[in-house]
Amino acid sequence: MADQSAPQEMTEVSEAQIAVHWKEEEYFQPAAQLVAQANLNDPRVRERFALEKFPDCFREYAAMLDWFEPYEKVFDGSNAPFWKWFTGGKINAAYNCVDRHLAKYASKPAFIFVPEPETETETRITYQELYTRVNEMAALLRDFCGLRAGDRVTFHLPMTPELPITMLACARLGIIHSQVFGGFSGQACGSRIQDSGSRVLITMDAYWRNGALIDHKQNADIAVQTAKELGQDVDKVLVWQRYPGKYSAPTPMVNGRDYFVNEVLKNYRDKIVEPEKMDSEAPLFLMYTSGTTGKPKGIQHRTGGYLAYVAATSKWVQDIHPDDVYWCMADIGWITGHSYIVYGPLACAATGIIYEGVPTYPDAGRPWRIAEKYRVNIFHTAPTSIRMLRKLGPEEPRKYNYHFKCMTTVGEPIEPEAWRWYYNEVGKKQAAITDTWWQTENGGFLCTTIPALDAMKPGSAGPGAPGIHPVILDENGDEVPAGSTRAGNICIRNPWPGIMQTIWGDPARYVQTYYARYNKNPASKNWRDWPYLAGDGALLAADGYFRILGRIDDVINVAGHRLGTKEIESACLTVPEIAEAAVVPVMDEMKGRVPEVYIALKPGIIASDEIRARVIKANEELIGKIARPKHVYIVPDMPKTRSGKIMRRVLASISNRKEVGDVTTLANPNVVEEIRVMVQGKDAQVTQGEIPEDIAKFGEEK
Ligand code: WTA
Repeated sequence: MADQSAPQEMTEVSEAQIAVHWKEEEYFQPAAQLVAQANLNDPRVRERFALEKFPDCFREYAAMLDWFEPYEKVFDGSNAPFWKWFTGGKINAAYNCVDRHLAKYASKPAFIFVPEPETETETRITYQELYTRVNEMAALLRDFCGLRAGDRVTFHLPMTPELPITMLACARLGIIHSQVFGGFSGQACGSRIQDSGSRVLITMDAYWRNGALIDHKQNADIAVQTAKELGQDVDKVLVWQRYPGKYSAPTPMVNGRDYFVNEVLKNYRDKIVEPEKMDSEAPLFLMYTSGTTGKPKGIQHRTGGYLAYVAATSKWVQDIHPDDVYWCMADIGWITGHSYIVYGPLACAATGIIYEGVPTYPDAGRPWRIAEKYRVNIFHTAPTSIRMLRKLGPEEPRKYNYHFKCMTTVGEPIEPEAWRWYYNEVGKKQAAITDTWWQTENGGFLCTTIPALDAMKPGSAGPGAPGIHPVILDENGDEVPAGSTRAGNICIRNPWPGIMQTIWGDPARYVQTYYARYNKNPASKNWRDWPYLAGDGALLAADGYFRILGRIDDVINVAGHRLGTKEIESACLTVPEIAEAAVVPVMDEMKGRVPEVYIALKPGIIASDEIRARVIKANEELIGKIARPKHVYIVPDMPKTRSGKIMRRVLASISNRKEVGDVTTLANPNVVEEIRVMVQGKDAQVTQGEIPEDIAKFGEEK
């Protein structure tokens, strides 16, 4: 049984009281060569963007864009916390990403598409070709689908150039796109179609992943069916062909509903569609993400502020120049891809790589071959890929002749060990690393070093980006000072142009989730009264660098992807034999965290592998393969408080081989030991050492 002395605090402890001790890492300095050519090399930039300069400092960001009509006001906070940016301005995102570059860069590639099969040749799409293709697609959306500014369209597209082309075609017309990550299931796509009220779904027949050509069209049929059951009809499904002229999926097309985009496009050859002059505040896109409770939230981003923010941070933080070749390995189906494959880099006239498949296919040398072949000099990926590439091919980068000046990491905290491999081996000790901390809701980077200005510290995201003023608050709303070893909730004091507008269709949830915790006066019109709660625990070192510890809510970050507890548990409960389900995060060497599921069966049902298999299948079908539980444990009962709440924290401790703490106050303390033996074996030893905050407090009542 657990040691009774130490754990007392674990049931009582709050995030602000958790003391975290980690060794201060040494600093790394950027290379002189990088500094000499950097877009941002003014050491006074953070003074220029000091809090007293809010909001006018952000004029500099708006000035990086071309406006049809100038904005009247930089910032309007009168309907706090529904901020408005660059009001009165008229702008078009596609115009800024494509048209305005034609004068100088028409024949320069905007994208180089690298298919997963190494035998297939790449496709280069110049800015001129991108212009043509975006215009033709816009004509199709307008004239064939009857779509207009403000309508929503759902995409379920894989990583091919058709995805950014379709996004930009929507942006050209002011149509709000909602791309659902291609790896999500048809059901997950269907519920997002319904929530956004889309009547058009755009997909692709097939794509390559890990050596297999996947039938993706079948997901569209499921998505349409799911949306229909939820009350939303889809009248057109547009299917891009992975190989134009050939249908690569075995799933049949549905007459009168499904159309091959390539076919229909023939009617719109060389059509030009004038870019709509959109209000700066017009929504640009929705991106669904998981939250603590309930269904995924449709994060709504605006046109002007968002585009200004991602353009500026692409230029300053990633140091993108038009003659750079930039490769972000994220999927465009996540916010990282929207902001830092599509909108930000294109606004900077970059040449970007779009890679279709998995980084380790056919071996762990693949990324470095791509880097060498296309002369990539700016690289961007996530800790989960870094760990994987390091494990499978620690010496692979040395074999290839490429040179990175900047590298970004995003999505989860990076262990200093993994950071050092990234720096020494991947970056060959020449590239500056930016560890960028931010979220779907934020549009762009919040904490990061500036490559030519700031020293790097492994494991720390760094200070706030220019104009971003983070603060750590404890549960009373008091500031936790720099240099304290106490963790707390990282918040942002001020609004910024990249912040979401609202949650689609649920403004109350927007206020509740991000602002209610620290706002003391809901009637206040003063932005200073509305600190933004990010939902991560963090620590502030004496040097002003933030170290992110992980989620404080019940979100499980699997390989950098947010999965909601509720989504997984609801999927489990679709198996009719199950009475209760609880999911917990388990530490995983590669993916950071993976879900493990505990289930209790209805009376009279006998536990079986078959039920376990159906629980796994339900998660794969309803959410996607990333939600696949590592284990499914069928338990006699859930550990519960006297008021009947499932103690997920106790289950999380068991799954992670940590002390369970004091369970004597539970309604059924004996079941804890029973479950522990089932999961760990009778004589298992708990592991010592600190429990990551997201696990220690998992499932805690907030
Ligand atoms: C986590 C991804 C530590 C964090 C852009 C955040 C990070 C969540 C970092 C958002 C980082 C993201 N260091 N943790 N550099 N970047 N996170 O919405 O917990 O998919 O709240 O946006 O990922 O995930 P999201």
